[in-house]
Amino acid sequence: MKQTVVLKVDSQKPDIEKVQIAADILRKGGLVAFPTETVYGLGVDALNPKAVSALFKAKKRPMDNPPIIHVENINDIYRIAEKIPPKAVKLIKEFWPGPLTLVFKRSKTIPDVTVAGLDTVAVRMPQHAVALALIRESHCPVAAPSANLAGKPSPTSAQHVFDDLNGRIHAILDAGPTHIGVESTVLDLSVDPPLVLRPGGTPLEALRNVLSSVKVHPFVVAEKDLPIGTTRSPGMKHKHYAPKAQVIVVEGAVWAVMATIKSLITAYWLQDKRVGVLATGETAWAYEADVVKSLGSRRDVDAMAVNLFRLLREFDEENVDVIIAESVPAEGLGLAVMNRLRKASGYNIVKVG
Ligand code: TXA
Ligand code: MG
Repeated sequence: MKQTVVLKVDSQKPDIEKVQIAADILRKGGLVAFPTETVYGLGVDALNPKAVSALFKAKKRPMDNPPIIHVENINDIYRIAEKIPPKAVKLIKEFWPGPLTLVFKRSKTIPDVTVAGLDTVAVRMPQHAVALALIRESHCPVAAPSANLAGKPSPTSAQHVFDDLNGRIHAILDAGPTHIGVESTVLDLSVDPPLVLRPGGTPLEALRNVLSSVKVHPFVVAEKDLPIGTTRSPGMKHKHYAPKAQVIVVEGAVWAVMATIKSLITAYWLQDKRVGVLATGETAWAYEADVVKSLGSRRDVDAMAVNLFRLLREFDEENVDVIIAESVPAEGLGLAVMNRLRKASGYNIVKVG
C-alpha cells in the first residue's frame, strides 16, 4: 500500500463529504481508522471476510482474537447476534451509545473469520459523531479493533495511528484526541450472570446499578499470569502492550509506594539503567529519575485514563530501560487503568505497606 490518506474532520459535526470518502473505502473492502470516544478503531466491513483478513494482517494481530463489531442502529444487533436477553435491552437503554461492548451468541450472517470461529460476537455502539456517521454512510456493521499495531498501546490520537499504521491502511479520519482514553468495558451476556471480561470506559459500579448480579472475570483483577484455560475472551491470553522497557507496578499506600519507588530508582541507577517513573499529580515532584511523567491527579481517575496510553508511548520514545509506575485507586475508570498497567508489566508487581 502507498501513503495512508489523513482526512481531518470536526469531532462534533464531521464534514459529510470526507466521511463519505471513508465510507466508500470501507464498502470496497478497504481499511479506515476512525475515532471513537474510547480509542481510535481500525474499521472494515464486518460482513466481508477478505477485508477482515486484511485487517488482521495490517495490525499483525493473531487470527484467534476477534474484533468488536460497531453498529449505529440498535436494529443492527439483530442482524449479527442471537438470543439477545432482556438484560441487554436494559443495558443498551442505559449505556448506548457508549463505551460498553456486549457479547452475544452470533448469528450465521457474520463470517467465521470476523468472530475468529467463536460462537459469540462482541458488539457496541460508539458515542462519537464521526464513528456513527461513518457506520451510517457505509451501510455495514464495522469490525474494528483498536487501531494500533499488535503489542502497542491503543491509539488515543490520529498521530498514534499514523505512527503505527502509515502505509498499511487506506485512510484515517482525524478528529483530534479521544476523550475517554481506555477501551470499552466488555460484558459477556452469553452467560448468566453477566461476566465482565475487560474493565473499560463503563465503570463496574455503573453496571452494578443496572444489573442485579454481575461477575468479574479473575483476569480483570489478576495480579499474576493466569493459566490459559481460564480465559473467556481471546484478548486475555495475548500479551498486550509490551514496551521495550520493563514495567514495574508498585502497589500500596501512597507514602510506602513513594519510598519504594525512590529506592528502586537508586538500585537501577547503580545498574546503569535509564529509569522512568509514571507518577501522579500529587507525587511527581518527589522523584529524581531520568524521566518523570504524571498521569494526573489521584482524585481524578477519568483524567488518568485519558493520559495513560499517550504517556506509555512517550516513555517508549524516551528510551528508558525501566518504567516504575505507581498504582492508582481501582475505582471507576481506575480499575481499567490498573488492569492495563498490570498487563503492561507482565504482572511484575511490587506490593508494599
Ligand atoms: O473501545 C473499544 O472497545 C475499542 C474501540 C475501537 O471501539 N476497540 C477495541 O477493540 O478495544 P480490540 O479488538 O482492541 O479489543 C476487543 C476485545 C478483545 O479483548 C477481544 O478478545 C474481545 O474484545 N472480544 C472480541 N470478540 C469477543 C467474543 N466473541 N467473546 C469475548 N471477547 C471478545
Ligand atoms: Mg486492542
